Amino acid sequence: MKLPDPLFNIRPTPPPATTPRFIDLSDDVPNSPAARSMVQELAEGLSAKEASIAPKFFYNALGSRLFEAITALDEYYPTRTEAGIFDASHAQIAQTLAEAGLTHPCLIDLGAGNCAKAQALIPHLQPRQYVPVDISVDFLKAAAGQLQNSFPALDIVGVGMDFSASLALPDEVQEHDRVFFYPGSSLGNFQPTQALDFLRQMTDPLKGRARGLLLGIDLVKDSATLQAAYDDALGVTAAFNKNLLRNVNTLLGTDFDVRQWRHVALFNTEASRIEMHLEARQDLTLSWPGRTRRFLAGERIHTESSYKYTLESMTALLNQAGFSTLRHWSDPKQWFAVFWAAV
Ligand code: AVI
Repeated sequence: MKLPDPLFNIRPTPPPATTPRFIDLSDDVPNSPAARSMVQELAEGLSAKEASIAPKFFYNALGSRLFEAITALDEYYPTRTEAGIFDASHAQIAQTLAEAGLTHPCLIDLGAGNCAKAQALIPHLQPRQYVPVDISVDFLKAAAGQLQNSFPALDIVGVGMDFSASLALPDEVQEHDRVFFYPGSSLGNFQPTQALDFLRQMTDPLKGRARGLLLGIDLVKDSATLQAAYDDALGVTAAFNKNLLRNVNTLLGTDFDVRQWRHVALFNTEASRIEMHLEARQDLTLSWPGRTRRFLAGERIHTESSYKYTLESMTALLNQAGFSTLRHWSDPKQWFAVFWAAV
Protein backbone atom coordinates (compact mmCIF):
# COMPACT_ATOMS: atom_id res chain seq x y z
CA MET A 1 0.00 0.00 0.00
CA LYS A 2 1.30 3.42 -0.88
CA LEU A 3 1.46 5.72 2.12
CA PRO A 4 0.32 9.30 1.56
CA ASP A 5 3.17 11.68 0.98
CA PRO A 6 3.27 13.87 4.11
CA LEU A 7 4.39 16.83 2.04
CA PHE A 8 1.63 16.39 -0.52
CA ASN A 9 -0.82 18.73 1.18
CA ILE A 10 1.65 21.38 2.22
CA ARG A 11 1.52 24.32 -0.10
CA PRO A 12 4.84 26.09 -0.56
CA THR A 13 4.87 29.65 0.82
CA PRO A 14 4.77 32.02 -2.14
CA PRO A 15 7.99 34.00 -2.58
CA PRO A 16 7.85 37.69 -1.60
CA ALA A 17 6.32 39.90 -4.30
CA THR A 18 9.58 41.83 -4.36
CA THR A 19 12.45 41.50 -1.94
CA PRO A 20 12.80 44.70 0.07
CA ARG A 21 16.02 46.63 -0.27
CA PHE A 22 18.23 46.16 2.77
CA ILE A 23 21.18 48.21 3.93
CA ASP A 24 23.35 46.65 6.61
CA LEU A 25 25.30 49.24 8.61
CA SER A 26 25.56 47.02 11.68
CA ASP A 27 28.53 45.49 13.46
CA ASP A 28 27.98 42.11 11.78
CA VAL A 29 31.09 42.59 9.68
CA PRO A 30 33.98 41.36 11.91
CA ASN A 31 36.64 43.96 12.53
CA SER A 32 34.60 46.76 10.96
CA PRO A 33 34.76 50.12 12.82
CA ALA A 34 31.24 49.46 14.17
CA ALA A 35 32.26 46.01 15.47
CA ARG A 36 35.42 47.41 17.08
CA SER A 37 33.56 50.19 18.86
CA MET A 38 30.98 47.70 20.19
CA VAL A 39 33.77 45.52 21.61
CA GLN A 40 35.32 48.57 23.24
CA GLU A 41 31.98 49.69 24.68
CA LEU A 42 31.38 46.23 26.17
CA ALA A 43 34.88 46.02 27.67
CA GLU A 44 34.52 49.48 29.24
CA GLY A 45 31.13 48.63 30.74
CA LEU A 46 32.41 45.40 32.26
CA SER A 47 35.56 47.04 33.63
CA ALA A 48 33.72 49.90 35.36
CA LYS A 49 33.39 49.82 39.16
CA GLU A 50 29.62 49.50 38.74
CA ALA A 51 29.54 47.10 35.81
CA SER A 52 26.97 47.61 33.07
CA ILE A 53 26.04 46.26 29.65
CA ALA A 54 23.88 48.41 27.34
CA PRO A 55 20.39 47.01 26.63
CA LYS A 56 20.95 47.04 22.86
CA PHE A 57 23.01 43.85 23.40
CA PHE A 58 19.82 41.95 24.34
CA TYR A 59 18.82 41.74 20.71
CA ASN A 60 20.66 38.90 19.03
CA ALA A 61 18.46 36.40 17.13
CA LEU A 62 17.39 34.56 20.31
CA GLY A 63 17.03 37.80 22.27
CA SER A 64 14.64 39.20 19.67
CA ARG A 65 12.55 36.04 19.93
CA LEU A 66 12.57 36.16 23.73
CA PHE A 67 11.46 39.78 23.58
CA GLU A 68 8.61 38.73 21.27
CA ALA A 69 7.63 36.15 23.91
CA ILE A 70 7.73 38.82 26.65
CA THR A 71 5.22 40.90 24.71
CA ALA A 72 2.78 37.96 24.87
CA LEU A 73 3.00 37.61 28.68
CA ASP A 74 0.03 38.49 30.89
CA GLU A 75 2.30 40.54 33.13
CA TYR A 76 3.82 42.60 30.30
CA TYR A 77 0.96 45.08 29.75
CA PRO A 78 2.77 47.71 27.55
CA THR A 79 2.47 45.94 24.18
CA ARG A 80 -1.22 45.09 24.37
CA THR A 81 -2.12 48.42 25.98
CA GLU A 82 -0.35 50.31 23.21
CA ALA A 83 -2.00 48.11 20.55
CA GLY A 84 -5.38 48.92 22.12
CA ILE A 85 -4.66 52.65 21.90
CA PHE A 86 -3.67 52.35 18.24
CA ASP A 87 -6.75 50.22 17.48
CA ALA A 88 -9.03 52.78 19.05
CA SER A 89 -7.29 55.81 17.55
CA HIS A 90 -5.95 54.84 14.09
CA ALA A 91 -8.39 57.08 12.28
CA GLN A 92 -7.68 60.09 14.50
CA ILE A 93 -3.94 59.56 14.23
CA ALA A 94 -4.13 59.40 10.43
CA GLN A 95 -6.31 62.52 10.44
CA THR A 96 -3.79 64.36 12.65
CA LEU A 97 -0.96 63.52 10.27
CA ALA A 98 -3.07 64.52 7.27
CA GLU A 99 -3.76 67.90 8.92
CA ALA A 100 0.01 68.32 9.20
CA GLY A 101 0.24 67.71 5.43
CA LEU A 102 1.59 64.18 5.84
CA THR A 103 -0.76 62.07 3.74
CA HIS A 104 1.95 59.75 2.35
CA PRO A 105 4.90 60.08 4.72
CA CYS A 106 8.18 58.26 4.81
CA LEU A 107 7.60 56.13 7.91
CA ILE A 108 10.83 55.34 9.78
CA ASP A 109 10.22 52.55 12.27
CA LEU A 110 12.94 52.59 14.95
CA GLY A 111 13.54 49.19 16.55
CA ALA A 112 11.06 47.65 14.11
CA GLY A 113 11.74 44.05 15.27
CA ASN A 114 9.04 41.85 13.76
CA CYS A 115 7.36 44.89 12.10
CA ALA A 116 4.03 43.86 13.69
CA LYS A 117 3.16 47.37 14.86
CA ALA A 118 3.79 48.86 11.43
CA GLN A 119 1.74 46.09 9.82
CA ALA A 120 -1.32 47.47 11.64
CA LEU A 121 -0.45 51.13 11.05
CA ILE A 122 0.50 51.11 7.35
CA PRO A 123 -3.04 50.74 5.96
CA HIS A 124 -4.06 53.86 7.91
CA LEU A 125 -1.02 56.08 7.30
CA GLN A 126 -0.39 54.88 3.73
CA PRO A 127 3.33 55.74 3.70
CA ARG A 128 5.13 56.33 0.43
CA GLN A 129 8.21 54.66 1.89
CA TYR A 130 8.56 52.40 4.93
CA VAL A 131 11.97 52.17 6.62
CA PRO A 132 12.26 49.52 9.35
CA VAL A 133 15.46 49.99 11.36
CA ASP A 134 16.86 47.47 13.82
CA ILE A 135 20.14 46.21 15.23
CA SER A 136 19.00 42.57 14.90
CA VAL A 137 19.75 42.26 11.19
CA ASP A 138 18.63 38.72 10.28
CA PHE A 139 15.44 39.04 12.32
CA LEU A 140 14.62 42.34 10.60
CA LYS A 141 15.42 41.04 7.11
CA ALA A 142 12.97 38.16 7.58
CA ALA A 143 10.29 40.48 9.01
CA ALA A 144 10.70 43.05 6.21
CA GLY A 145 10.36 40.25 3.64
CA GLN A 146 7.11 39.09 5.25
CA LEU A 147 5.78 42.62 5.35
CA GLN A 148 6.51 43.07 1.65
CA ASN A 149 4.19 40.10 1.01
CA SER A 150 1.39 41.99 2.76
CA PHE A 151 2.13 45.26 0.92
CA PRO A 152 3.67 44.30 -2.44
CA ALA A 153 3.57 47.85 -3.84
CA LEU A 154 5.12 49.54 -0.81
CA ASP A 155 8.69 50.84 -1.14
CA ILE A 156 10.47 49.19 1.82
CA VAL A 157 14.07 50.01 2.70
CA GLY A 158 15.29 47.94 5.66
CA VAL A 159 18.26 49.32 7.59
CA GLY A 160 20.37 47.24 9.99
CA MET A 161 22.07 49.64 12.36
CA ASP A 162 22.59 50.76 15.93
CA PHE A 163 20.47 53.91 15.73
CA SER A 164 21.09 54.68 19.42
CA ALA A 165 24.55 55.89 18.41
CA SER A 166 23.50 58.05 15.45
CA LEU A 167 20.36 58.71 13.47
CA ALA A 168 22.28 59.33 10.23
CA LEU A 169 20.26 57.26 7.78
CA PRO A 170 21.52 56.03 4.39
CA ASP A 171 20.84 58.01 1.19
CA GLU A 172 18.18 55.52 0.10
CA VAL A 173 15.89 56.92 2.80
CA GLN A 174 13.71 59.69 1.42
CA GLU A 175 14.58 63.09 2.90
CA HIS A 176 11.16 64.73 2.84
CA ASP A 177 8.03 64.04 4.89
CA ARG A 178 9.88 61.88 7.37
CA VAL A 179 7.80 60.62 10.27
CA PHE A 180 9.63 58.68 12.96
CA PHE A 181 7.67 55.85 14.51
CA TYR A 182 9.11 54.93 17.90
CA PRO A 183 6.60 52.69 19.68
CA GLY A 184 6.87 50.26 22.57
CA SER A 185 8.32 52.73 25.08
CA SER A 186 11.83 52.10 23.76
CA LEU A 187 12.64 55.77 24.39
CA GLY A 188 12.32 54.80 28.07
CA ASN A 189 15.47 52.69 27.73
CA PHE A 190 17.56 55.88 27.39
CA GLN A 191 18.59 58.00 30.38
CA PRO A 192 16.41 61.16 30.18
CA THR A 193 19.37 63.32 29.07
CA GLN A 194 20.25 60.80 26.35
CA ALA A 195 16.57 60.66 25.37
CA LEU A 196 16.65 64.43 24.92
CA ASP A 197 19.79 64.25 22.72
CA PHE A 198 18.21 61.47 20.70
CA LEU A 199 14.97 63.41 20.15
CA ARG A 200 17.02 66.51 19.22
CA GLN A 201 18.76 64.48 16.51
CA MET A 202 15.33 63.74 15.04
CA THR A 203 14.34 67.41 14.87
CA ASP A 204 17.77 68.47 13.54
CA PRO A 205 17.28 69.59 9.91
CA LEU A 206 20.68 68.13 8.97
CA LYS A 207 20.27 64.77 10.75
CA GLY A 208 16.89 63.16 11.35
CA ARG A 209 14.99 65.79 9.31
CA ALA A 210 11.76 64.74 11.02
CA ARG A 211 8.44 66.39 10.21
CA GLY A 212 6.97 64.49 13.13
CA LEU A 213 7.20 61.68 15.60
CA LEU A 214 4.69 59.04 16.63
CA LEU A 215 5.88 57.86 20.01
CA GLY A 216 4.61 55.14 22.37
CA ILE A 217 5.61 55.63 26.00
CA ASP A 218 4.91 53.77 29.23
CA LEU A 219 3.52 55.82 32.12
CA VAL A 220 4.19 55.75 35.86
CA LYS A 221 1.87 53.41 37.77
CA ASP A 222 1.84 51.30 40.95
CA SER A 223 5.14 49.54 41.54
CA ALA A 224 3.63 46.03 41.91
CA THR A 225 2.31 46.16 38.32
CA LEU A 226 5.63 47.50 37.07
CA GLN A 227 7.66 44.95 39.00
CA ALA A 228 5.60 41.99 37.74
CA ALA A 229 5.98 43.18 34.13
CA TYR A 230 9.77 42.85 34.44
CA ASP A 231 9.89 39.73 36.63
CA ASP A 232 7.23 37.42 35.19
CA ALA A 233 6.24 34.12 36.77
CA LEU A 234 7.39 32.02 33.80
CA GLY A 235 10.87 33.49 33.89
CA VAL A 236 10.85 34.68 30.27
CA THR A 237 12.25 38.09 31.22
CA ALA A 238 14.90 36.35 33.31
CA ALA A 239 15.91 34.29 30.24
CA PHE A 240 15.93 37.46 28.10
CA ASN A 241 18.21 39.16 30.62
CA LYS A 242 20.59 36.19 30.90
CA ASN A 243 20.75 35.64 27.14
CA LEU A 244 22.56 38.98 27.04
CA LEU A 245 25.55 37.24 28.64
CA ARG A 246 25.63 34.66 25.85
CA ASN A 247 25.56 37.45 23.28
CA VAL A 248 28.46 39.18 25.05
CA ASN A 249 30.37 35.86 25.05
CA THR A 250 30.01 35.86 21.26
CA LEU A 251 30.83 39.55 20.74
CA LEU A 252 33.60 40.12 23.28
CA GLY A 253 34.84 36.58 23.99
CA THR A 254 33.89 36.59 27.68
CA ASP A 255 33.37 33.29 29.50
CA PHE A 256 30.06 34.06 31.26
CA ASP A 257 28.30 30.97 32.60
CA VAL A 258 24.63 32.03 32.74
CA ARG A 259 23.95 29.59 35.60
CA GLN A 260 26.11 31.73 37.87
CA TRP A 261 23.85 34.77 37.45
CA ARG A 262 20.42 35.70 38.82
CA HIS A 263 17.86 38.02 37.23
CA VAL A 264 16.92 41.04 39.37
CA ALA A 265 14.22 43.62 38.50
CA LEU A 266 13.24 46.50 40.77
CA PHE A 267 11.37 49.79 40.53
CA ASN A 268 13.51 52.76 41.54
CA THR A 269 10.77 55.21 42.56
CA GLU A 270 13.08 58.19 42.92
CA ALA A 271 14.47 57.86 39.42
CA SER A 272 11.09 56.68 38.05
CA ARG A 273 12.63 53.68 36.37
CA ILE A 274 12.57 49.90 36.36
CA GLU A 275 16.12 48.59 36.66
CA MET A 276 17.21 45.17 35.48
CA HIS A 277 20.42 43.67 36.79
CA LEU A 278 22.25 40.36 36.72
CA GLU A 279 23.55 39.39 40.14
CA ALA A 280 26.45 36.99 40.72
CA ARG A 281 25.23 33.96 42.69
CA GLN A 282 28.79 33.21 43.89
CA ASP A 283 32.29 34.72 43.83
CA LEU A 284 33.65 34.28 40.31
CA THR A 285 36.28 35.47 37.87
CA LEU A 286 35.23 36.66 34.44
CA SER A 287 37.77 36.58 31.60
CA TRP A 288 37.90 38.02 28.11
CA PRO A 289 40.81 38.59 25.71
CA GLY A 290 43.41 40.68 27.53
CA ARG A 291 41.53 41.01 30.87
CA THR A 292 39.96 39.38 33.88
CA ARG A 293 37.56 40.78 36.46
CA ARG A 294 36.50 39.42 39.81
CA PHE A 295 32.82 39.56 40.86
CA LEU A 296 31.82 38.84 44.45
CA ALA A 297 28.58 37.03 45.28
CA GLY A 298 25.75 39.61 45.22
CA GLU A 299 27.61 42.00 42.90
CA ARG A 300 25.49 43.19 39.99
CA ILE A 301 25.76 44.12 36.35
CA HIS A 302 23.20 46.78 35.39
CA THR A 303 21.65 45.68 32.09
CA GLU A 304 18.65 47.94 31.55
CA SER A 305 16.75 50.96 32.80
CA SER A 306 13.20 51.46 31.65
CA TYR A 307 12.08 54.98 32.53
CA LYS A 308 8.42 55.61 33.20
CA TYR A 309 7.07 59.07 32.33
CA THR A 310 3.99 61.11 33.17
CA LEU A 311 2.01 62.91 30.47
CA GLU A 312 3.50 66.15 31.79
CA SER A 313 7.14 64.99 31.92
CA MET A 314 6.95 63.58 28.37
CA THR A 315 5.30 66.75 27.06
CA ALA A 316 8.11 68.80 28.61
CA LEU A 317 10.80 66.54 27.09
CA LEU A 318 9.28 66.71 23.60
CA ASN A 319 9.01 70.49 23.79
CA GLN A 320 12.60 70.77 24.95
CA ALA A 321 13.69 68.66 21.98
CA GLY A 322 12.11 71.09 19.53
CA PHE A 323 8.76 69.47 18.82
CA SER A 324 5.85 71.89 18.95
CA THR A 325 2.37 70.64 18.14
CA LEU A 326 1.65 67.79 20.54
CA ARG A 327 -1.31 65.46 20.87
CA HIS A 328 -1.68 62.28 22.82
CA TRP A 329 -3.97 59.29 23.14
CA SER A 330 -4.14 57.00 26.17
CA ASP A 331 -6.00 53.97 27.56
CA PRO A 332 -8.75 54.25 30.20
CA LYS A 333 -6.31 53.41 33.04
CA GLN A 334 -3.72 55.86 31.69
CA TRP A 335 -1.06 53.15 31.77
CA PHE A 336 0.44 54.03 28.41
CA ALA A 337 0.35 56.94 25.96
CA VAL A 338 0.85 57.48 22.25
CA PHE A 339 2.10 60.98 21.39
CA TRP A 340 2.06 62.78 18.07
CA ALA A 341 4.76 65.44 18.07
CA ALA A 342 5.20 67.69 15.02
CA VAL A 343 8.32 69.73 14.32
C1 AVI B 1 12.18 47.41 24.49
N1 AVI B 1 11.88 47.96 25.79
C2 AVI B 1 10.96 49.09 25.68
C3 AVI B 1 11.43 46.98 26.77
C4 AVI B 1 11.07 47.68 28.11
O1 AVI B 1 9.96 47.46 28.58
O2 AVI B 1 11.88 48.47 28.61
C5 AVI B 1 12.49 45.93 27.00
C6 AVI B 1 12.15 44.97 28.09
N2 AVI B 1 12.94 44.63 29.06
C7 AVI B 1 12.35 43.75 29.82
N3 AVI B 1 11.16 43.53 29.36
C8 AVI B 1 11.01 44.27 28.25
